[in-house]
Amino acid sequence: MASTYLCAMQVLNGKETAQAIKDSLKIEVAQLSSRGNPVPHLVAVLVGNNGASETYVASKVKACQEVGFKSTLIRLEENITELKLLEMIRELNTDPDVDGILVQLPLPKHISDDEVINTIDPAKDVDGFHPNNVGRMVLGQPTFVPATPHGIMLMLEHYKIETKGKHAVVIGRSNIVGRPMSILLSGAGYPGNCTVTICHSSTVNLKEICQTADILVAALGKPGFVTADMVKDGAVVIDVGITRVPDASKKSGFRISGDVDYENVAPKCSYITPVPGGVGPMTIAALMKNTFRACAIKHYEDQGESIH
Ligand code: GUN
Repeated sequence: MASTYLCAMQVLNGKETAQAIKDSLKIEVAQLSSRGNPVPHLVAVLVGNNGASETYVASKVKACQEVGFKSTLIRLEENITELKLLEMIRELNTDPDVDGILVQLPLPKHISDDEVINTIDPAKDVDGFHPNNVGRMVLGQPTFVPATPHGIMLMLEHYKIETKGKHAVVIGRSNIVGRPMSILLSGAGYPGNCTVTICHSSTVNLKEICQTADILVAALGKPGFVTADMVKDGAVVIDVGITRVPDASKKSGFRISGDVDYENVAPKCSYITPVPGGVGPMTIAALMKNTFRACAIKHYEDQGESIH
């Protein structure tokens, strides 16, 4: 059925927005260096050979190069023991040359995500996954905010999208995206001050709840799950999905698919993120901001100053 929504739809260009953030970070890195400080150093740990993780980590390392950070990629065999991995993290924690540590998830089944996350020094936890940092985020205190929801908040801010008093519906309750997203959107300040509903696999009447969303964040990892009949006219739709779907017409043999049926949903929206080129690049830009922050806190506090 044709949409009755009359305002123009705007595509939220994550690639351009992320580039603007990286450009300004590049300048800040130069300023930090000019004060005699070393440039930020991110260490990414990749365990095993998960194709998608390889791609994401490669993008993170590339972004470090773009903004002038130092980066180190540590590749570990799939069968590394949890003990060995934890030992390595403890070494990175005490290495004064390292500002940020990220261990790419998912990890092989024999390694506990929680043990790994809890072992990373919260001051170097640029993913914002450590319980100390999650707690600070919930309390609205300065901290490292997980990169994907952080990137989405930066995007809402960049496009000056009104959030106060809006009903935000988040589909998905993962620790990486859905849960922190719901906390941030409900927080005081801008972007924020939303009334938030978080939906998951046990939610009843999901479609009806989504239909009441002014801001709809789809983060469940099911290609094309959000259809036009679930979306209110004029809604802001944020698509976090990045599932690899087999596609024989592609050289790689797959294409990346979002959680939103973009073609049919987009005409109803006031704003929508594309996949690719929406949330993905913003996630990387947010990680770069977190890494810069880790470095700046360390060096400025050494010099008796605070960046909070
Ligand atoms: N896997 C999927 N998203 C992320 C992320 O933001 N950080 C890490 N470390 N792993 C991930």
